[in-house]
Amino acid sequence: MKIVETIAEVKSIVRAWKKSDASIGFVPTMGYLHEGHLSLIQRARQENDRVVVSIFVNPTQFGANEDLDSYPRDLQHDAALCENAGVDLIFHPTLEQMYPKGFCSFVDVDVLTKELCGLSRPVHFRGVCTVVSKLFHIITPDRAYFGEKDAQQLAVIKRMVQDLNMDVDVIGCPIVRETDGLAKSSRNTYLSPEERKAALVLSRSITQGKKYVQQGEKNAHTLVQAMTEIIEKEPLAKIDYVKVVDLFTMQQIDTLDRPFLAAMAVYIEKTRLIDNFIVGGENV
Ligand code: PAF
Repeated sequence: MKIVETIAEVKSIVRAWKKSDASIGFVPTMGYLHEGHLSLIQRARQENDRVVVSIFVNPTQFGANEDLDSYPRDLQHDAALCENAGVDLIFHPTLEQMYPKGFCSFVDVDVLTKELCGLSRPVHFRGVCTVVSKLFHIITPDRAYFGEKDAQQLAVIKRMVQDLNMDVDVIGCPIVRETDGLAKSSRNTYLSPEERKAALVLSRSITQGKKYVQQGEKNAHTLVQAMTEIIEKEPLAKIDYVKVVDLFTMQQIDTLDRPFLAAMAVYIEKTRLIDNFIVGGENV
């Protein structure tokens, strides 16, 4: 496995692979890898000749008061996990490689980014789409793998790829959870033991929400209300949003009569966590 920092090196390696018709699977990450990332890597490993993982904490997707500086980083550990998982190449660019002096071009996906996380994180998706487009141009993967925990991100990237005619298959992979239900996230490391316990309120609400749908609930507002009430019982939790949206447009719906996403963002003290479930989507 190689670890490279420059775009020129990645391009030259990818060129050689393409000469021998090798297919490329790509897993973009911000590092501090956990089993969620590893499930994406495993899928990429199964479906492609070569696997590239990028590790880059992308500053343009963090707002001014967000956790860019404290975002956890551990390249050595990440590299060991990647090596073990059969990754061929880690792209770990410097800030200057990705955003050289004078950089001023951004990719902005409209509509889908105006709801859910886009409301409380107004610059987030512009940063995500910009860095993911750059990575797609540099790595030119056949397939790219994203977790469904960031379901809005997945929908936005799929829209961007379709709208801008990018030649890559975007593949969503199911949420990976701890045994007690907490969705795996690099941000879980911020939680104290007490907060970690409180954070289980998200998956409790998700499980209950799924049950209501299985029992035949058709009213989106009733579903949101029921899920919200569960979270409100936890004193350390503060809701950013609990919403039900159309799976493809990310617009709020009244009736559960199409593929939909039930999503939430909840602060456990200072840590903002997200979780969701999808009904009628390709992985359900
Ligand atoms: O999901 C993430 O970790 C990031 O948003 C991504 C896709 C790597 C872009 O920085």
